[in-house]
Amino acid sequence: MPLPDKAACIGAGVIGAGWVARYLWNGVDVAVYDPHPEAERRCRDVLATADASLERLLGGRPARLGALTFTDSLADAVDGAGAVQESAPERTDVKRKILAEVDAHAPADALIGSSTSGLLPSWLQADMARPERFFVSHPFNPVYLLPLVELCAGEGTDPQAVERAKGLYAELGMRPLHVRKEIDGFVADRLLEALWREALWLVHDDVASVAEVDDAVRFGAGLRWALMGTYQTYRIAGGEEGMRHFMAQFGPALKWPWTKLMDVPELTDALIDKIAEQSDAQAAGRSPRDLERERDRGLIALLRALESEDLAGGSVVGAYKRARFRAAAPDLTPDTEGRVQTLTVTLAPDRLDATGGLSAAACQDLVEQADGALLQAAGSATRPFAVETSLNRSASPGAGARLTVTTRVVSAAERVLHLAHRIVEADGREIAHATQTLHPVDDTGRPTALEETALARLQALV
Ligand SMILES: NC(=O)c1ccc[n+]([C@@H]2O[C@H](COP(=O)([O-])OP(=O)(O)OC[C@H]3O[C@@H](n4cnc5c(N)ncnc54)[C@H](O)[C@@H]3O)[C@@H](O)[C@H]2O)c1
Repeated sequence: MPLPDKAACIGAGVIGAGWVARYLWNGVDVAVYDPHPEAERRCRDVLATADASLERLLGGRPARLGALTFTDSLADAVDGAGAVQESAPERTDVKRKILAEVDAHAPADALIGSSTSGLLPSWLQADMARPERFFVSHPFNPVYLLPLVELCAGEGTDPQAVERAKGLYAELGMRPLHVRKEIDGFVADRLLEALWREALWLVHDDVASVAEVDDAVRFGAGLRWALMGTYQTYRIAGGEEGMRHFMAQFGPALKWPWTKLMDVPELTDALIDKIAEQSDAQAAGRSPRDLERERDRGLIALLRALESEDLAGGSVVGAYKRARFRAAAPDLTPDTEGRVQTLTVTLAPDRLDATGGLSAAACQDLVEQADGALLQAAGSATRPFAVETSLNRSASPGAGARLTVTTRVVSAAERVLHLAHRIVEADGREIAHATQTLHPVDDTGRPTALEETALARLQALV
């Protein structure tokens, strides 16, 4: 489905602001309605973090960002919007009231989604005159990075609206998961809540601290989950006989009292204090914004690693980049030295090394992004695989510096390219240069030949 020209975001807290970023980065204008006096400032704070993160994940900026407006009335926000995303507080009465108002003012063919984490769509659409275009579209925080969005229809939803919604969210770079039945908590929060319940018991019973419970996830199962989820991980754990063996071996353990099942520890003041104090100690002075940036850095690294292997969430990001960022590919007109501008990025502070210089990893990242941008601009569907890169860092940029990468094609043949990149600051000062030998590879990582027209374009730059 083509993206609408305008979207409306009703509620712009943690989740709403994430949706705003996704729409803006897809060139869609966004009108926001959120009655909180600080709503605009808070939303723009999230957008600043999202902006830096998306630029890093996608290796560039889109040709056009959508325009952002804040309105004082919900009716103005949804006026003319092709898609409306409600991300107000998780209370049925509040959401029903908002959705009835959205229903009264949004265009008849607008898609209306609620970000609710677990409220049933049939309840939420109960006061709508035209409930058929309403569904739940439950995202994950940070909405601008994580691909998953769960779609769930209510009794009054037209199945066609869900089909259109699948197209809309896929176009926004997401992975829609259609929840087959209307159930509390949908699929993902069912799983997350089971884990959360156990995590609360483990701290309640002094089996582990808050940080130790997190370590048990992040050093082990969490790494596997990002790649394969639960079922496929367990299939492999069954060895050569796969799932049947796994179920036979570990099935009986399900009946042992490993789990507290549906019991929930009483959230007494003492338990809340204990968890909050341990959580403060775990944060070790890092502010919520610091933690958000740390989270984004890690997620981007994971997504990019998975993208390079065309696996799981990385495949979604890769397909999205190829589909939407082609339009933003650099112009291949060379300057007087025969260089083309392949990339412009704002340098994030964490990309500097201990001496204040551009870190080797950051340098490598920029060069790889420039390679991808060059192939894309030449109209090639192949991806670059660098067999040799020689980096030379000459000066230290300031954090927040705007860096440009220019690239000279030294030689171009069907299966091998030699490139020379320069990374410069806005005043033209060189920060680093690199030479590279690249092989084009296909989507599965196998070496392949450049397409005839792409090769001709690259050879014209030699
Ligand atoms: N936080 C998460 O991890 C997460 C994940 C997925 C889904 N969700 C869901 O997203 C929704 C929003 O959650 P959040 O975490 O962003 O909450 P939040 O408290 O950060 O944001 C809610 C926003 O809604 C605004 N608001 C209040 N009344 C409003 C009204 N009448 N009209 C418009 N806006 C109004 C508030 O001012 C606030 O900015 C909830 O339904 C929640 O379940 C949250």
